[in-house]
Amino acid sequence: MAYFCIKINTMKSPFDLSKEEMKAYGYKIIDILVEHFDTIESKSPVSSASRKEMDTIFLQEAPDKPMPADEVLDFVMENVIPHSNLTTHPKSYSFVPGPSNYISTLADTLATGFNIFSGGWIVSPAAAELEIVTMNWLLKMFNFPVQKGGGIFTSGGSMANLTALVTARRIKCGDDFSKAIIYLSDQAHSSNIKAIRVLGFKKEQIRIIPTDLEFKIGFNKLKNAIAKDRLEGNQPFCIIASAGTTNTGTVDDLDSIADICEKENLWMHVDGAYGGAAILSKKGAKTLRGIERADSLTVDPHKWFFQPYEIGCLLVKDSSWLSNTFSEKPEYLRDIEGNESEINFYDYGIQLTRRFRALKFYMSIKTYGLDAFKKAVTYNIDLAEETEDLLRKSKSWEVVSPATLAVINFRYNPLGLDLTEKELDRLNQEISARVVASKEALLVTTILQNQVVLRMCLINPKTTIEHIKETVAQCTGFANEILAEWKS
Ligand SMILES: Cc1ncc(COP(=O)(O)O)c(C=O)c1O
Repeated sequence: MAYFCIKINTMKSPFDLSKEEMKAYGYKIIDILVEHFDTIESKSPVSSASRKEMDTIFLQEAPDKPMPADEVLDFVMENVIPHSNLTTHPKSYSFVPGPSNYISTLADTLATGFNIFSGGWIVSPAAAELEIVTMNWLLKMFNFPVQKGGGIFTSGGSMANLTALVTARRIKCGDDFSKAIIYLSDQAHSSNIKAIRVLGFKKEQIRIIPTDLEFKIGFNKLKNAIAKDRLEGNQPFCIIASAGTTNTGTVDDLDSIADICEKENLWMHVDGAYGGAAILSKKGAKTLRGIERADSLTVDPHKWFFQPYEIGCLLVKDSSWLSNTFSEKPEYLRDIEGNESEINFYDYGIQLTRRFRALKFYMSIKTYGLDAFKKAVTYNIDLAEETEDLLRKSKSWEVVSPATLAVINFRYNPLGLDLTEKELDRLNQEISARVVASKEALLVTTILQNQVVLRMCLINPKTTIEHIKETVAQCTGFANEILAEWKS
């Protein structure tokens, strides 16, 4: 590989490069990225390294003297990238994958390159306008009021949930939240509990409601808990509903939750971080019925809207709730306040300095068209159902939770295999460990109803039924291998 060396031109800023140097460096990185997008399938989705191995490669003092830029880049390509899982890989089935797309990748590069400040209107009116416009697209998608409603892009779902709960508390409780009670299911995402903790609620103010056999929030238990709190003089103020739990893709009964919230004057927050995007498909929209009745909704474009990290989003029914919660007027920002129609997104959330997240969302939807996104989400939902059929037809696999919003959970449990529940857990854990160790696929476990199960989240449009057949066959092979080892 030809080496070029950036000569730091100390006549200007110590960080300035010549035009030729910048081009050479930039083109090299673009070539690397294009190659990556083009050949991802031939790579392994899994990486692994111990802390000791990583320290051996990287641990060193910050160098005082410069190093040729090519050498630094080559070192990164040899040591950093190969030690990172490829969440965009079609066989990356675990957690919530990040399928991303090329246009947004480069849009992020543009936003970073120009280092656009996306906090105040006057600083970057177009950035604020694009956030308004893309937020309107999302509001419309979820049948939220476009005129009155609003929202903000955040770093991800966790920050969107936090922003929602700060707002809910402010609007419903004001300054005194000493008796405020919040309700969520035992399947709600952990970021909600983190947010509740960040907000300073005590344990006694949180009600974790057990889920039913379908993993939906237990409705009668929820109603009873609210009634009991009222009797005890507490102040129920918010229910967090899930629109696509991380474990099983389950959507709580949103219409019924909205009914309770209306009757009891509670804030309805819906965490649709991964599942909300299913609104783009007909089947998904049916499953998400009632989502439009939420006061606030988290969706996470860096999940099933195929955006690179980091972009989460909070939508609210009334944008003044956000400004009433977050607006501060320090004297050093008075010159950029602007007029009321010119939104300063620093007034809508926690961050003042914010990167230009709307650009990638805007450019990718403009470039590919919303139909491409609809097609991809519909494909993913159908693929999970096809996977369920495949597993149900086999005599070896048990479907533990059916395909829901592209998530499916299953375990190896052939008819006639005389194993205890504990042994089945060990077997399925070991199948996952061997798949991951093979580096062919990222397939990890979760626990459902006290059983260790293998979980697939199939939100990557590059994943095909052939990939899944290969992985299931690999799992079956490992199961037989493990059982043979146990016998011998
Ligand atoms: C339902 C749900 N909510 C919230 C989050 C947190 O989102 P993030 O990881 O973007 O902070 C996740 C992440 O997987 C999720 O699945």
